[in-house]
Amino acid sequence: MPLDIVVGTQWGDEGKGRIVDLLAKQADIVARFNGGDNAGHTVTVFTEGSGSQTFKLHLIPSGVVHAHTSGILGSGMVVNPATFFAELDALLAAGVSIGPERLQISFAAHLITPAHRALDRAQEMARGSGQIGTTGRGIGPAYTDRAARRGLRLQDALDRSTFHEKMLAHVAAANQQLVALGVEPLDAQAVAKDYNDFAARLAPYISDTGLQAWLALKQGKAVLAEGAQGTLLDLDAGTYPFVTSSNPTAAGALLGLGLGAAPIRRVIGVTKAFQTRVGAGPFPTELEGEAATRLRGTGANPWDEFGTTTGRPRRVGWLDGVLLRYAVRLNGLTEIMMTKLDVLSGLEKIRICTAYRAGGVEYEQLPLGPADLSPFKPIYEELPGWQADLQSLHRWEDLPAAAQNYIRRVEQIAGVPIGQVSVGPERGQVVDVAA
Ligand code: IMP
Repeated sequence: MPLDIVVGTQWGDEGKGRIVDLLAKQADIVARFNGGDNAGHTVTVFTEGSGSQTFKLHLIPSGVVHAHTSGILGSGMVVNPATFFAELDALLAAGVSIGPERLQISFAAHLITPAHRALDRAQEMARGSGQIGTTGRGIGPAYTDRAARRGLRLQDALDRSTFHEKMLAHVAAANQQLVALGVEPLDAQAVAKDYNDFAARLAPYISDTGLQAWLALKQGKAVLAEGAQGTLLDLDAGTYPFVTSSNPTAAGALLGLGLGAAPIRRVIGVTKAFQTRVGAGPFPTELEGEAATRLRGTGANPWDEFGTTTGRPRRVGWLDGVLLRYAVRLNGLTEIMMTKLDVLSGLEKIRICTAYRAGGVEYEQLPLGPADLSPFKPIYEELPGWQADLQSLHRWEDLPAAAQNYIRRVEQIAGVPIGQVSVGPERGQVVDVAA
């Protein structure tokens, strides 16, 4: 009964998509469990005869590009039907055969509506200088409605006799908040009509996906849980309030899929070889100026550090070992996959934060979680860099000694093994780390 969970150990954008792509080859079911279309995974679809096509998936599990898999959008998610159908149509156009027979959404997932998106933007504006830097996709307001027990679940869309009225009431309530924030109200009838159309198209996709995952696991099939965002953006465990409104951690995977803990086989934490963040919030190892541009790239390449969903330049910094240890503990990681090691090539020295200092005291663990990191100054260890381009290397023994040394040091700090490192953006550019 193997359930493998992939989570980000940082603030998202660790390159989970490519690890999922690798692991999906052995999975029967690929499942998203948290968030919505705030995530962004770049996938490449290979079609016989017409080569490869690369595009971004924000909502549908990226493992579905492998034809043998089935996809699940779990109960922990918030689903914008407009995005869902746009992605479905893009996949179909790319030659991926996909429909209700191999893609299902949990009846208990919540709907995102245009009212949620409008509220997200209006609330963000109202925060003024305290902005979180949300993706504007309506994530926070949709989860707020869920917690306030007034949300619209996918299940509601199945009963068309009441759905229209529920939508009207939802938009009317949101309009009151929008007007209070000084924003134009939405046309409730128009929104309700659009969602009535979506409801008809959504119906064959809605079921009890937790039951399906459980039955598949009982038959010995493999389920791969695809985390979106990262540990430090977790609503409870992250750098609150600069977090998303869901639980991108391993515990969130269980609740967000409707499964218990027994089937877990591996919990794989994806870690970039350095640290990045989009949006506001603490970032102790952040770099500025030239050094930052060096790690971020200029945006000329699709893999440079600019947001997949919003295009915003990402903040960048040195790998933070204190936060990595925290992510290992919090998720119960069995292993780490490291991405983007090649980006560090050419640096004279590479720094890793191994502990924090505050008030003359050294901390290897966070005393009160990551919400308030302002008192802490990173303590760095400096490692020798390497000059060789790693992108054409495939074997551990071909990596420069300094690159091997960097990986070994990160393993020591994290306390779990690193299974693989990626050394370039293409599928094959991965090196297995020697045991
Ligand atoms: P929200 O999820 O749109 O509410 O945004 C809340 C915070 O999470 C903001 O700082 C976003 O930049 C961040 N965030 C949300 N989704 C992602 C993601 O997929 N990658 C990186 N950051 C994200």
